[in-house]
Amino acid sequence: MDRKYCNVVVLISGSGSNLQELIDASLFSNYKISAVISNRPDAFGLQRAERGNIPTQIIDHKNYDSREAFDKFLADTIDEINPQLIVLAGFMRILSGDFVNRFSGKILNIHPSLLPKYPGINTHQRALDAGDTEHGVSVHFVTPDLDGGPIIAQENVPIYKNDTAEALATRVLKKEHLIYPKVVSWFASGRLHMHKGKAIMDNEELPPCGVMIQP
Ligand code: GRF
Repeated sequence: MDRKYCNVVVLISGSGSNLQELIDASLFSNYKISAVISNRPDAFGLQRAERGNIPTQIIDHKNYDSREAFDKFLADTIDEINPQLIVLAGFMRILSGDFVNRFSGKILNIHPSLLPKYPGINTHQRALDAGDTEHGVSVHFVTPDLDGGPIIAQENVPIYKNDTAEALATRVLKKEHLIYPKVVSWFASGRLHMHKGKAIMDNEELPPCGVMIQP
């Protein structure tokens, strides 16, 4: 990276617990969060950002006639901030191909499953319904494929007998909080990038499941 710090914009829709971890870690890391944008005016994450003295913006998708119009305004807003990285942290909107291609290789997402298993929503219940014995979290580059971009890192959690979706979500979220700041700092240091649809770390193509983080 040519600047001292990698400038990051974080997109949220809700509680923002991952955002909080990213804010806390940024104080001792190689990236700075220059703005937090929410598509929901009531997202608690906005308060977390304000407490961290990070500028916030609300771009409510309900005020736009189409996905394309919303995405275009969001993309133009991000371009004005000119970040090196866009981090989706519980951003509950599907981004159009135009948006994703405009920032190709510069968008990260965290997803609460061991991708390619369970893209989309309700991942914890789906893992329980399938009788899986393990579940987890993935961080990946965003491509126009929903939750289908190259995986950078994953971490597992066990599924216990009589687990509930809520208990499992809590277990996974704890891992999310550890893995996301780590991956963002890899990107910020220039160790990680996307090339021809693959995740490259330290000049090596990562395996399909990315780096498997051990507890
Ligand atoms: C997390 O489980 C994340 O993986 C998913 O949405 C949830 C957001 O949680 N995409 P939070 O808003 O960071 O607390």
